[in-house]
Amino acid sequence: MLEVRDLHVKFQNRDREAVAGVSFTIRDGEILGLVGESGSGKSVTAMSIAGLLPRKKCDYRGDVLVDGEDMLHADRALLRKVQGNKIGVVFQEPMSAMDPLMKVGRQVEEVLVIHTDLSPEERRKRAIEALTDVELADPEGVYNKYPHELSGGMLQRSMIAAAIVARPSLLLLDEPTTALDVTIQAQILKLLKKLNEEYGMSMLFISHNLNVVRKLCKRVAVMQKGEIVEEGCTDAVFFRPQHPYTQHLIACIPARVKVIAKKDAEARRLAADGAAGAAAVPEKKAPGSAEGAAMGPEGTSHGDTVTASGEEVKGGERNGR
Ligand SMILES: Nc1ncnc2c1ncn2[C@@H]1O[C@H](COP(=O)(O)OP(=O)(O)OP(=O)(O)O)[C@@H](O)[C@H]1O
Ligand SMILES: [Mg+2]
Repeated sequence: MLEVRDLHVKFQNRDREAVAGVSFTIRDGEILGLVGESGSGKSVTAMSIAGLLPRKKCDYRGDVLVDGEDMLHADRALLRKVQGNKIGVVFQEPMSAMDPLMKVGRQVEEVLVIHTDLSPEERRKRAIEALTDVELADPEGVYNKYPHELSGGMLQRSMIAAAIVARPSLLLLDEPTTALDVTIQAQILKLLKKLNEEYGMSMLFISHNLNVVRKLCKRVAVMQKGEIVEEGCTDAVFFRPQHPYTQHLIACIPARVKVIAKKDAEARRLAADGAAGAAAVPEKKAPGSAEGAAMGPEGTSHGDTVTASGEEVKGGERNGR
């Protein structure tokens, strides 16, 4: 699906390479997490894949193959063909990514205007289908609204609808939940998991938060200073980090979150072993259980979390039963 080989990107006004020899692959239907500190080159890597590098301002080399098409050196016509059609992109700030003067539905449809010969009525139908796919309660209502009329969570869902409306085979998600509160973040993660399972969409999920990545991605790559310093199965990287930088990332995660992570990992292991019912919600503890009172995934006292299966569990439910 995606193959990145020895990617180098250096902005001409910088001394150091932003991306310094990165290689990884994403197979069909796979979700790869990409984590790393601010400035480590995650977004520049994603921009290179999407064909969005400001080419005149940087030197670049390597291969970025999306279904065999070289995005790094593609001409404008090929980029247009692949962008939106094969690759969908979702960024962190839905408010700034949307045009405030254009109704949401029109923005969701835009990629269909570029890539298809569908009639306006057909495009509207497809846009409403996409808004339904992302589980917006009133897709037709949202279609006719302006961005400022929607909440942050609704906007992010609309952005995802715009990214998937042409059914791309690869979604690039650059910190898509960072600006959202913990509950909405959990809902978006669950939605992404559903899209991955239902449509087999491959994804590159970028975050600086290894705990968020753990919930969605089987495999993760860790970036530091333009390089991938560690890559592997998320559970292995989470519980047995090898590189000092990854060890530092893990050390910053609260102990109670690690307890939840351990149970998730165990449930996944049992499910993989074929034990019937082993993937059941591990956090649902008996009333009064100390672990059942664990806090939310980011160490907040919100009390909601996401299980191995992506299910959202209310803290109140855990503790109240
Ligand atoms: N247009 C640009 N011109 C010059 N330098 C840039 C440009 N875009 C990114 N950089 C630099 O490239 C490096 C990598 O940036 P990048 O945005 O990929 O980091 P990141 O890992 O996504 O960080 P964050 O977690 O903060 O989003 C940084 O040093 C950044 O300043
Ligand atoms: Mg970034």
